[in-house]
Amino acid sequence: MTASPSPQESNPQDSADAADAVRNRINTAQPHTARIWNYWLGGKDNYAVDREAGDSIRELHPGIGDYARADRLFLGRAVRHLVADCGVRQFLDIGTGLPTADNTHEVAQRIAPESRIVYVDNDPLVLTHARALLTSSPEGRTDYLDADMRDVEAVLEHASQTLDFSRPVALMLLGVVIFIEDDKEAQGLVRRIMDALPSGSYLVLSHTITSPAMPDVDAAVAFWNEHGTPKLTQRTPEQVAKFFDGLELLEPGVVSCSRWRPEPTGLGEPDEVAMFGGVARKH
Ligand SMILES: C[S@@+](CC[C@H](N)C(=O)[O-])C[C@H]1O[C@@H](n2cnc3c(N)ncnc32)[C@H](O)[C@@H]1O
Repeated sequence: MTASPSPQESNPQDSADAADAVRNRINTAQPHTARIWNYWLGGKDNYAVDREAGDSIRELHPGIGDYARADRLFLGRAVRHLVADCGVRQFLDIGTGLPTADNTHEVAQRIAPESRIVYVDNDPLVLTHARALLTSSPEGRTDYLDADMRDVEAVLEHASQTLDFSRPVALMLLGVVIFIEDDKEAQGLVRRIMDALPSGSYLVLSHTITSPAMPDVDAAVAFWNEHGTPKLTQRTPEQVAKFFDGLELLEPGVVSCSRWRPEPTGLGEPDEVAMFGGVARKH
């Protein structure tokens, strides 16, 4: 299901039914990842249940706000690098999240207005806000698909209507593979999508880590898994690096998102956060 059926294709009753169906999928009794993420980023698209869980997690892991912001800033730096320095003009952003400042198409089209972006998320609230993701520059194009990343065929089939798979595409998987619990399945999904992309494509991936240096993160994730949905799986930095196997990792490799090519501040290296990420090129 896409975000914006054209007016010619839908009659008012069908549209009302479709809107009802989406609203019925929104569960306000349980914290949801897209909404809680929005809360930590300072957004307004969340419910009391999300804010309560978000505050409880912040008590367990006070660095959670830095973690969410570091991930978004990593997204911005990675997209700018790919567009400005590597000539990438196409992005497949899976696990998009609710629209916020500097969504992928805004960062890319600021530098190259002809950039094309396909967003994919399986959260119904993200679908209801998808119009904010479809504000493309006239020269470029954006599209939104309401789907689960496990449905690789549907994602690729839909994305191919906007993206030209004979030219490089950057696959953006920020904070989403954490929701695929089984390691083999997670590795397989990333591999299958990358296999469909041509040489010169890129993988941008970020992932919550577990590390003896950050025990409070494990407690926060345990709390989330008891109360929130979908359940989250932490991986070690070494397990996260495995997602890039067979690709050429760009410097500085898989690191805390805050330390991936940070803007110089003159204040030394930024603190590590529990979200690690990297960017790699397919040969
Ligand atoms: C933590 S947010 C990250 C948002 C954004 N990528 C970012 O880094 O700011 C995770 C997003 O992934 C979506 N998501 C979780 N599991 C998914 C799945 N199996 N398929 C598609 N989207 C999924 C959630 O709905 C949520 O919007």
